[in-house]
Amino acid sequence: ALALLAPQDLAGTRVAISAGGTREPIDPVRFLGNRSSGRQGVALAAEAAARGARVTLVAANISADVLAAAQHPLIEVRTVGTAAELGEAMQDAAASAGIVIMAAAVADYRPASASDQKLTKEESVLDRIDLVENEDIVAGLAASRPDGQVIVAFAAETLTDADARRERARRKRERKGVDLLAVNLANAEHGFESADNAIEVIGEGGAVVASGEGSKREVSRAIWDAVLNLSQHHSS
Ligand code: CTP
Ligand code: CA
Repeated sequence: ALALLAPQDLAGTRVAISAGGTREPIDPVRFLGNRSSGRQGVALAAEAAARGARVTLVAANISADVLAAAQHPLIEVRTVGTAAELGEAMQDAAASAGIVIMAAAVADYRPASASDQKLTKEESVLDRIDLVENEDIVAGLAASRPDGQVIVAFAAETLTDADARRERARRKRERKGVDLLAVNLANAEHGFESADNAIEVIGEGGAVVASGEGSKREVSRAIWDAVLNLSQHHSS
């Protein structure tokens, strides 16, 4: 019944969403990871499907109970592990998408090589790990995007000063070449691992074009509204 009450303003639109956090293997039993639960990305996918979009959800290491909220006939889930896998899956999904949202937390670096044997203290090979930088997936998607495609990136920031946070977000949006950057305050109450979130959406010229606070589903509504506002501007 709830789905019928949602506006069908994304009907006929294909969207590609990444969610969760990548894991970069160190050896067979260890990885470099992060605290992203995938809840915000899953909520964005569920909201998009409820509004009629066909969604490809690229899910990086999301637990089954969180991923359950993405069960919908219009959502296809592709599971990935590493940043490289996520990049490949998103390139694939983005090729036919009108809207791309990168909600996943992508590892900035990966171990230069993953050992096929467990590293041990005895062999004293555990005290340092050589890292190499991962490609910036969303910047790559933005640089080669099809005409008219809208791209949204996320940023989790721990700066509590709102002005400083916005300034960083503006630079990040420019650097990535995306249309919108959704910034969340990653602290104890909001963001990673939490059910609630608070975001600000930075758009053209660094303007704050939307904000939202509450459940991750409520926040996802604010983000979709901001995306649709932008699409209407584009086409008019
Ligand atoms: N991102 C990406 N590829 C990467 C790193 C990040 O596509 N290798 C995307 C994230 O999915 C997110 C956006 O870029 O949508 C911003 O991520 P963030 O970690 O905030 O940006 P970074 O450029 O990595 O900057 P920072 O040094 O603050 O981590
Ligand atoms: Ca980063």
